[in-house]
Amino acid sequence: ARTTAVLLTLSLLKLARGSSGVSNYSFPDDFIFGVGTAAYQIEGGWNEGGKGESIWDTYLHEHPTFTDDHSNGDVAADSYHHYMEDIEMIKNLGVQAYKMSISWPRILPNGTDNNINQEGVKYYRTIFEELVKANITPVVTLFHWDMPTPFMNLGGWTNAKVIDYFEDYARVAFSLYGDLVKMWLTINEPNENCIGTYGLQSLAPALNSHGLGVYLCTHNSLLAHARVYRMYEKEFKPDQKGKLSIVLDAFMGLPKDPNKPEDVEAAENYLQMHLGMFAHPIFSEEGDYPRVVREKVNNMSRLQGYSRSRLPYFTDEEITALRGSADFFALNHYITELMSPSVMEPDWKVPSINHDTGVKTEADPSWPMFGADWQHVYPPGFRKLFNWLQNNYKILKKIPIIVTENGMTDFGGTKDYDRVDYYNDFLYQLLLAIHEDGCNVKGYFAWSLMDVFEWSPGYTYTLGLYSVDFNSPNRTRTPKLSAYNYANIVRTRRIDF
Ligand code: NOJ
Repeated sequence: ARTTAVLLTLSLLKLARGSSGVSNYSFPDDFIFGVGTAAYQIEGGWNEGGKGESIWDTYLHEHPTFTDDHSNGDVAADSYHHYMEDIEMIKNLGVQAYKMSISWPRILPNGTDNNINQEGVKYYRTIFEELVKANITPVVTLFHWDMPTPFMNLGGWTNAKVIDYFEDYARVAFSLYGDLVKMWLTINEPNENCIGTYGLQSLAPALNSHGLGVYLCTHNSLLAHARVYRMYEKEFKPDQKGKLSIVLDAFMGLPKDPNKPEDVEAAENYLQMHLGMFAHPIFSEEGDYPRVVREKVNNMSRLQGYSRSRLPYFTDEEITALRGSADFFALNHYITELMSPSVMEPDWKVPSINHDTGVKTEADPSWPMFGADWQHVYPPGFRKLFNWLQNNYKILKKIPIIVTENGMTDFGGTKDYDRVDYYNDFLYQLLLAIHEDGCNVKGYFAWSLMDVFEWSPGYTYTLGLYSVDFNSPNRTRTPKLSAYNYANIVRTRRIDF
């Protein structure tokens, strides 16, 4: 009955919009489809079952007006109590994998491994068991931004000591769950996390470090990732045989005027400063930060009167540990921006990477928008980004790219025609990248499984395949049209336009 209803809805949808057929290309057999969420964005149960506090709990309780709608994630989608429904939804989509995160303070309430919270341990174990039973691969992020409060009070990722504690936490997670979890992600979007927390002040606890913290956080996040990769490789991989990576998010940068060499250079510099800063140390043959990144930040630091660069240096051992520390390229992608040069005033009060890079970013006014003010929709940028990666990192011939997030913001409702188009169009660009450009892309995770707490915007816009009624006590979940559409793509391995 369910399938009939799904097919009926889909045909109605197609009829209403004027069908244009099925994609000429299909997704290869070894291509995996998934959906994603993150602990603080869905779980709730912020002080239940022995959980400790993360900085999002602490900061939003102390600063309730930080989010646009003055909300927080105390209850969110209440997945702490409704996880079995989540798993049913994932099954109904027919996907092969589920990307989720562990709340560090749910299993280690004060962050350190001297106190392991058995209730928290059991919560995730049950979820992993249920997923594996249903043939769904759990893809597990260790850090999706919910830093245990005691560590954030020590400076979070700007304090190198936190790397040791992150390694201890990762070891606990691998020992507890490595029999079930074979795909691990260390840190989610360290660039967004570092810029948001220590630069733009858009993520808790919104610290202003005058342009110093962003790169300290960058540097230590990279070192933390390498430390955990090498530890897993030595202590767990031989038995557990899992794969591990770090999630990097990338906007595509295109020259505003492709005929202007300075715009072409601005686009390239932007990509190196935002993506290359993290990808080059791990995926390039030579390792370390890209040369242009080192030059730009050193130069700006000098102009600002610093006697040392704001971007720290790696030792030779650190460069070696980082180089090749990923079994696949985990990529989050949402938008494309147009680039042109801008003047680099040595004004230390503007702690932005764009400022250090010397680029102005803007969207093409013809690109549509459906929700968040940052999200203009330009699907061809997705294909161009795969090609940029493939051209920059030779290792991607051997290890695949997996898209760990991609999705569209809107203001809610289950008749989400625009999101249906969004997924169709982005996935079609992905098919072109595979079939026409030979890019090595092997997986795609839609973000997100359901509507979630979206950090500082709170619940003001939605991204889910399932809508969540945040006013109902049971946080009722309802499939949107995009859920049916995605399930159809996963089942037929083609796109039905
Ligand atoms: C990336 C983040 O990983 C995720 O937490 C967030 O919800 C999405 N971007 C959408 O903004």
